[in-house]
Amino acid sequence: MADFVDRRYAAVQSMAQQNLISPDQPAVGIVDLEAIRDQIESLNWAFASIPDTMHMVACKSVTLVPLLRFLADQGMGCEVASPGEFAMAEAAGFPADRIVLDSPAKTLAEIRHCLTVGAAMNIDSYQEMARVERLREEIDTASVIGVRVNPVVGSGSIGEMSTATTTTKFGIPLIDEASREELVDAIAARPWITQLHVHSGSQGIPLELAAEGISRIVALAESVNEKVGRQQIVRLDIGGGLSVNFTSDEITPTYHDYADVIEKTAPELFSGKYTVLTEFGRSLLAKAGSIATIIEYTKKVGQRDFAIGHAGAQTATRTVFMPKSWPLRVSAFQGDGTPSRTENRIQDLAGPCCFSGDMIGREYVIPELAPGDIALIHDTGAYYFSTPFAYNALPRIPVYAYTVDDAGEVTWTTIRRQQTIAEILAEAGEDVRLEVPAPAGS
Ligand SMILES: Cc1ncc(COP(=O)(O)O)c(C=O)c1O
Repeated sequence: MADFVDRRYAAVQSMAQQNLISPDQPAVGIVDLEAIRDQIESLNWAFASIPDTMHMVACKSVTLVPLLRFLADQGMGCEVASPGEFAMAEAAGFPADRIVLDSPAKTLAEIRHCLTVGAAMNIDSYQEMARVERLREEIDTASVIGVRVNPVVGSGSIGEMSTATTTTKFGIPLIDEASREELVDAIAARPWITQLHVHSGSQGIPLELAAEGISRIVALAESVNEKVGRQQIVRLDIGGGLSVNFTSDEITPTYHDYADVIEKTAPELFSGKYTVLTEFGRSLLAKAGSIATIIEYTKKVGQRDFAIGHAGAQTATRTVFMPKSWPLRVSAFQGDGTPSRTENRIQDLAGPCCFSGDMIGREYVIPELAPGDIALIHDTGAYYFSTPFAYNALPRIPVYAYTVDDAGEVTWTTIRRQQTIAEILAEAGEDVRLEVPAPAGS
């Protein structure tokens, strides 16, 4: 089925008919594989004029091995930022030379593993540069080694997601001309550093600001190459960070929009001189995913109408804690998965957690929800159902992938089962008994 909105309608109906959402499993994540494939295709097209590219998915946006495996099968690479993410990328089948390790706190063991298997890495600080230099004497490595640069171009609309300011922990900053020269000298003195990396932030970063950050690392690469009199820097990793439109089903900005702005600001990136790497997460996956929740109760509180469901901070953590920065759209369905036909009403959608702020959003103008209906929370395919928060010992919600054929038939694959109560108890140390020695003389 061609259109991802039509596929979503078919999926919600099928999900209800097949009892994938039920009183025993009242909050469910669903993901449209064709929508992901379409985004990969548009990413490939947008940068197709660059002769050598490697597009990676940012693992943090989708820490689910079957989805990572699907992305590996589509020819993507994987950007990882912890030992767990590295293990997931390896389990998903990404070859080592298509994995890049970024993190501001890489341990000796992590760096050793990365160099041993031959994955690439981006050094985040001068101390880490010294550590990698020492380890390279011990380990005969095929790893491409880069440096993450903070281009200090400023903040986007969400301060917490901006990484190119004077107050961020990431990368080696280009604070002034002296710091720039120091970095050029440090890289020029280490011919094994052949890649530069920039990621100016995620969500809320204007295209022009991100492109300016990229143009600063292109200029830095040119300075290093000029200084050593040959092309030492051969790869440029331009990070991810393309914002997602959470206000409608329209995909905007597109990868093409971004590539156009980058080409105007940093034309050398498209010259063919450099291999170009990208690390997108949210823009690849957000629109492919939704969270469905059964409405358990509705109630009136003064003038407000509340619908209380089962998706809250345990799966929509960012939205619940920072509602102004991360608003989500909601649609109303009947219990059988068909769109609700009741009159529109202004309603607040609450989650199950025991704190007042556990709200998916307020003042939605949607068909009136009743107990047993389904609320669908849109654009949650990145960083939401894959990144649970264990508050109130709520289970990790199940996640299913779907495809829809031309006849509207939906095929489901289980990506992750709902966590069981037995698993929650085991993780909570069910078998451990604590004792304090009896006081002496008692
Ligand atoms: C280094 C790095 N690369 C890529 C990404 C992915 O960003 P986004 O999901 O906004 O594309 C992140 C997100 O935090 C990041 O820190």
